[in-house]
Amino acid sequence: MKNKLILSGLMLGVSLAVSAQQHATVTVHTEKAEQIIPKEIYGQFAEHLGTCIYGGLWVGEDSPIPNTNGYRNDVLEALKKLKVPVLRWPGGCFADEYHWMDGIGPKENRPKMVNNNWGGTVEDNSFGTHEFLNLCELLGCEPYISGNVGSGTVEEMAKWVEYMTSEQGSPMAKLRLQNGREKPWKVKYFGVGNESWGCGGSMRPEYYADLYRRYSTYCRNYNGNKLFKIASGASDYDYNWTEVLMQNVGHRMDGVSLHYYTVPGWTGSKGSATKFTTDDYYWTMGKCREIEDVLKRHMAIMDKYDPKKQIALIVDEWGTWWDEEPGTIPGHLYQQNTMRDAFVASLTLDIFHKYTDRVKMTNIAQIANVLQSMILTKEDKMVLTPTYHVFEMYNVHQDATFLPSDLQCTYKNVRDNRVVPMISTSASRDKEGRIHLSLSNIDLEESAEVTVNLEGFEGKQVTGRILAADKIDTYNTFENPDAVTVKDFKDVKLQKGGLLVKLPAMSIVTLEIK
Ligand code: AHR
Repeated sequence: MKNKLILSGLMLGVSLAVSAQQHATVTVHTEKAEQIIPKEIYGQFAEHLGTCIYGGLWVGEDSPIPNTNGYRNDVLEALKKLKVPVLRWPGGCFADEYHWMDGIGPKENRPKMVNNNWGGTVEDNSFGTHEFLNLCELLGCEPYISGNVGSGTVEEMAKWVEYMTSEQGSPMAKLRLQNGREKPWKVKYFGVGNESWGCGGSMRPEYYADLYRRYSTYCRNYNGNKLFKIASGASDYDYNWTEVLMQNVGHRMDGVSLHYYTVPGWTGSKGSATKFTTDDYYWTMGKCREIEDVLKRHMAIMDKYDPKKQIALIVDEWGTWWDEEPGTIPGHLYQQNTMRDAFVASLTLDIFHKYTDRVKMTNIAQIANVLQSMILTKEDKMVLTPTYHVFEMYNVHQDATFLPSDLQCTYKNVRDNRVVPMISTSASRDKEGRIHLSLSNIDLEESAEVTVNLEGFEGKQVTGRILAADKIDTYNTFENPDAVTVKDFKDVKLQKGGLLVKLPAMSIVTLEIK
């Protein structure tokens, strides 16, 4: 812990303890703008897992919960504000046991199955291809379908692509029409398997590389629809997986995925989402930031085989993974979400922004009621998490031009030999020429006075929004949904060449400078 400045009020005979303030400098190189931050960096993930789909997104048309064609109205409205660019479905691990034909046609005829990965819950298949793709149309987002390599056939995968994307006349288009949809959907992103090294088939990378080549051959481009095919990639530090895929699959894939969770370990307790120590908190910041090194090492391997960066790195699962909330169904991965999770979101997004020459899409896990969710629901109630608010504040960076910046700030040594900067930042310029600057102060005690140099830009007006809490373990509940919420931020002033910002401890701010 850093020292506190103790001012003695000797004259008054009392002691005043005043929290010290850190100083930081951010220099934004507005003239070095090169890359666009693709909106797909803000992608989401919805798996048939716990109450993500059933109860979270979908309640069915006959539900007393207000809905539009079966989709919850409150959730739809919240997701529209988030500007979700792309939604991955149906898994995750579920994808490699999912047989899409069970999820089409009259609901009463759809076979049931056991969701073996996630608590053995019986899946009635009432939410299938039509329900998912129609949801994407309602949200105005791209669908990202995960195909079944682990337990599905090549024919099954090939027919799914035909069903979704071929024009009238083909056998699968006729079946689609019988099920009420004439026009094909537009499906761009298609994952050929998920975690094929684990729940997706326990394969060796060499074997999966061959299977990828075989399955993807039959995923055709129908009637002008162009698939962007994504291979099932590595987990965390498994650099060999990326190496083998780059060597053996190469340009047959448009993207290769990577999964990185901020998780204390895969065996035993992962720790509570809401009860944690200061040490646990700073460890979490270090672990989430480590994704930067992991990305760099995977990207260095990709650069060897693909120096022109034609193959994208797709981080299609990321976020925090804590113990399930006590009293919830085991295997449903329902967890609360505090200000600590909000920082995992802001710090990770700041990192993704820097590498969009290679990282073209990411999908946080998951959109509702599972892991680091945007939204939690309980019957007819809905609450937005601190992570939702980060995604909403940050959506100004979608499709904006990334502005590189240099940062000077204080650092802390944290558990597991990691060194963590107390400030995180990223900047972008939107199509109207406005600059957006996001700043996170992760320090639990000290506010920060941040001098921002906007090289080559003279701002005339600045406005801001802040997400903050007095305690790091603050979270929103159905009874108190606005414990952590976005407010206007005024502690910023324009000065020659930039800004002076006073960031409270534990705060995330996004500024707009015109
Ligand atoms: O997001 C939860 C699970 O985590 C996914 O199903 C799987 O791909 C990963 O292990």
